[in-house]
Amino acid sequence: MINIIIAIDGFAGSGKSTTARLVANSLNYIYIDTGAMYRAVTLKWLRTETPLAEENVCKVLSDLDLELHQGATGQIVVMNGEDVSSQIRTLEVSNFVSPVSAYGCVREKMVEQQRQLGKEGGVVMDGRDIGSFVFPNAELKIFLTASVEERAKRRVRELEQKGMNESIESLIKNITERDYFDSHREISPLTKASDAIEIDTTFLTITQQCDKIIELAQNIIGE
Ligand code: DC
Repeated sequence: MINIIIAIDGFAGSGKSTTARLVANSLNYIYIDTGAMYRAVTLKWLRTETPLAEENVCKVLSDLDLELHQGATGQIVVMNGEDVSSQIRTLEVSNFVSPVSAYGCVREKMVEQQRQLGKEGGVVMDGRDIGSFVFPNAELKIFLTASVEERAKRRVRELEQKGMNESIESLIKNITERDYFDSHREISPLTKASDAIEIDTTFLTITQQCDKIIELAQNIIGE
């Protein structure tokens, strides 16, 4: 039995996190939500109440200590000893995470940690540049898409489950802006790796999309 790396990339709200977590559970793999790491950096910078500038964001990295734990219903993010799993999901963080994650110092530090976390294999990592940049040799690369309306609806439901309310309109705006920004940034932009398998999830249930990926993974693991 080999321990492969499964990279799941895609647009905001395309179901990457839920899919990656369920696929990891089913294969007994570790699940890593890399978006949460960029969100934690954003939260740490927001708390400094300094203007959005590369210099100010880079500064918070020097004493950033991030731990990712596997919780029953999702990844638990502990930042410098504090559980920030809910706080990193607010719309305020979502509105700033794209520019923050585009800075070179942030990408360098996060990518280094991600490569460390995945180096033994046996991981399902979701993000924007996992198959194209972080692990270009990942054995299985998936690129998830879905219509923007469907993705916004899913985010509304996800936030509701966490006790947060946001309108569909504000989420469509946030998702559209982030997709554009993430795809057009200079360093490792959101892109589908040439050898990634694209799955449009607009009309698929979570179970259907997970089953597809698990089958693809088992074909490789069993080879
Ligand atoms: O997956 P998410 O929506 O929580 O990600 C939040 C942001 O983090 C996303 O808009 C862009 C950034 N991100 C990134 O640049 N690279 C990754 N591998 C993951 C996320």
